[in-house]
This record gives sequence, C-alpha cells and structure tokens, in this order.
Amino acid sequence: MTDDATIADHYTSGQLLERLEAALRDDGVDPKRPTIEALAPHDQFHGRGMEATLELAEGLEVSAEDHLLDVGSGIGGPARFLADRFGCRVTGIDLTREFCDVARHITGLLGLESRVAFEQGNALAMPFEAARFDGAYSMNVSMNIADKAALYGEIHRVLKPGGWLALSEVAQGPAGALTYPTPWARTADSSFLSTPEETRSGLEAAGFTVERWRDTKQAALDFGARSRALVERGEKPPHRSVFLMHGALGPEVMANVARGLNEDKIIPIEVFCRKA
Ligand SMILES: C[S@@+](CC[C@H](N)C(=O)[O-])C[C@H]1O[C@@H](n2cnc3c(N)ncnc32)[C@H](O)[C@@H]1O
Repeated sequence: MTDDATIADHYTSGQLLERLEAALRDDGVDPKRPTIEALAPHDQFHGRGMEATLELAEGLEVSAEDHLLDVGSGIGGPARFLADRFGCRVTGIDLTREFCDVARHITGLLGLESRVAFEQGNALAMPFEAARFDGAYSMNVSMNIADKAALYGEIHRVLKPGGWLALSEVAQGPAGALTYPTPWARTADSSFLSTPEETRSGLEAAGFTVERWRDTKQAALDFGARSRALVERGEKPPHRSVFLMHGALGPEVMANVARGLNEDKIIPIEVFCRKA
C-alpha cells in the first residue's frame, strides 16, 4: 500500500453517508434537507469543530469575488460555511475519495454546487494553475503530510501574490510521542507532526510572511471541558464528527487526543500568513 493509500484508507469507512444520515435523523433533521447549522456537529473534521471554523472566518477579509482553496477539505463543512458566509467560491481538494463524494452530495443538497467544488487529489501536486486563488486555508491536515516544504511550496504556487494562507494545525509538543490511534492516524507511521518552530520556519522558507500566530491549547481544553459537562448532563456534545469518521474507534481516538493535550505532547496552533 502506498502512503497516500494508507492515509485515505484510515479515513475511509464505506459507511460515511449512512452514518451521517443516521446522525442527522437522530438529531431530528431530515437528511435530504439539512442546513449548514444542522450539519455543523458532523461535517467539521477538526479540533473544536465549528467553533474553530467560526474563529477562522472572523479573522478573514473575503469578498464575494474571491476564490478560496481548502487544502484537505474533508466532507466540506468549512468550505460550505465560508462560501455561505462570504458569498465567495471555494474549491476543496482531498485525498480521500469517499470524503469528496459525500462533500459533493451534501453541497448539492444545500444548493451550493455552483460556488463550492471538490477535487479528489493530493495537496502535494494540485491540479490548479499558478496564482489561481485569493486565499487558502487548511484545517488539521498537515499531520498526514511528511513533506511540509512541498506542501507549503505547492500552496504558495497556487496563491496570487498577496494571497493569504490560514492554517489550523496540531503541532508536536515538547513532551514526546503521542499514543495512537488518533483522529488522523492509526499508528505513528502515518503521523507527521512538526513543532511550532518547524512550522514557522517552513512557512517562511516557502515564501510566506507570518502575520498572526495563536496557541489554542487552552481553547481546546475549555472546549473539551464544556463538551464533557454536556455529556454528563445527558446532552450531545457540540462536535461529533469523529464518530462519523471512525465509528467505534471514536472514544479511543478522542481520549488519546485529550491525553496528548494535557501532557503537552501536542499543541494546537492557528497561523495566518501571506505570500509576499
Ligand atoms: C482531519 S481531516 C480534516 C478535514 C477538513 N479539513 C475539516 O476540517 O473538516 C484530514 C483530511 O486531510 C486529508 N488529507 C491528508 N493528506 C492529504 C493530502 N496529501 N492531500 C490532500 N488531502 C489530504 C484527509 O483525506 C482528510 O480528509
């Protein structure tokens, strides 16, 4: 199996659409007529879910004429949210075919297909011409990519001069190796965490200027505490996408992330940078 296939295999269940439809029905939502709000607990495949996507949007200046790139777009929750919020176009690219199929299906149900599109492909060799996009973002993806120089270089290539890149990532903390499985990798063999310092120097080496930088560890701990309090009261937590992705493995991967955060083995970071 190639590395790409190992990673796509980690995310592929063959049951994603059925699980999503069942989860929506359980929420009292008709799966044929979902809304962006109803999908939010399920279609944001990154730490803190919609809370993080909202914060990303609040830090962006996007016009309706802009065309954004979502690198590692999952089932498209962030892409649909940003297209709806700003009236812009968004193109997502993702390695996992099942995610792209479900992303297109949901986008069609929401009537957003004229502005939101998904390509199955590798972020290291994107089928887009140079200087095509006004801005790019990537949420919880680079942990699957060993060659960060190639990733940042490829994003830099497809951005217009002055274009921005917003990253929301899980970085390697100072306290050593994580326990696997995690949401992004079954074993350490397909997990490629960079330290915050390596992330910054990698972005600068690719030609980006870092304009904003945030360590979101406390936000992640607070989000986890609020979610646990809801569960203890018998309510659903706000972020349930890991159960769509990983089914029965969900509790174990979430516990490994929580332990990694508490023990300083991972540091969630948000970075905003710009192509000169
Ligand atoms: C944790 S999910 C995040 C999905 C999405 N960004 C979100 O926040 O909902 C990681 C995603 O990265 C994708 N991915 C990993 N390596 C990739 C690569 N080399 N090229 C494109 N997508 C990749 C996976 O298929 C998966 O959909």
